[in-house]
Amino acid sequence: MPLSSLEASKRQAAEAALAWLPERGVVGLGSGSTATFFIEAMARLVAAGRELWGVATSMESRRLAQTLGISLLPDAGPWSVDVCVDGADEVSRALDLIKGGGGCHTREKIVNRASAFNVIVVDESKLSGQLGERWAVPIEVLPFGVGNAQRELERWGNVTLRERQGHKFVTDSGNYILDLHTGPLADPAALDVQLQAVPGVVDTGLFIARADVVVVAGEQGIRELRPR
Ligand code: A5P
Repeated sequence: MPLSSLEASKRQAAEAALAWLPERGVVGLGSGSTATFFIEAMARLVAAGRELWGVATSMESRRLAQTLGISLLPDAGPWSVDVCVDGADEVSRALDLIKGGGGCHTREKIVNRASAFNVIVVDESKLSGQLGERWAVPIEVLPFGVGNAQRELERWGNVTLRERQGHKFVTDSGNYILDLHTGPLADPAALDVQLQAVPGVVDTGLFIARADVVVVAGEQGIRELRPR
């Protein structure tokens, strides 16, 4: 798909998610390019007088929301989120997700868990049969002993330490990301449990049964996928 229509699809999916927002309440603000379109769209509702507060899943989303006039709840919580709207890197037929392309998945998972309803917004290039067909699994790890965590994670596939502009990528929480290249995953839920047990792992980008609806935008328009 040409870049411009990809961007248009992301924007379409993000704007369709507005339909799930309450008249008044707390909204989880995802991270990444699709979530950015959503934050911009929600800011227009807020500017028009809708009483919505945000919980940001990254410093980037926090900055954007503040710039656009969305009031945010403090990072420490506890919050009860009415609806969270977030993107994903890969969506399986079972509607499980890989997230963390931007390295924000730990915060995203915390907000997802705190949310009564989770809307995932994607363009159709994100759909796959089984997780792992298209993306590696991002794993946030403590910097201390990252080499040991990497060695242990190699049991499940090739592992690369994420870099950006020639430096180690550092998350908003000061940690590193190891990308685990697994290939198609027959049982992502079982893998998630195993990965979480590795010392130094903060959280994985596997989101199992965490989407209440997936809004997919593509050349055929908008579709809503719901778990069976
Ligand atoms: C951020 O770490 C991710 O989980 C994003 O939600 C995911 O990478 C989707 O990003 P895009 O909307 O930019 O594709």
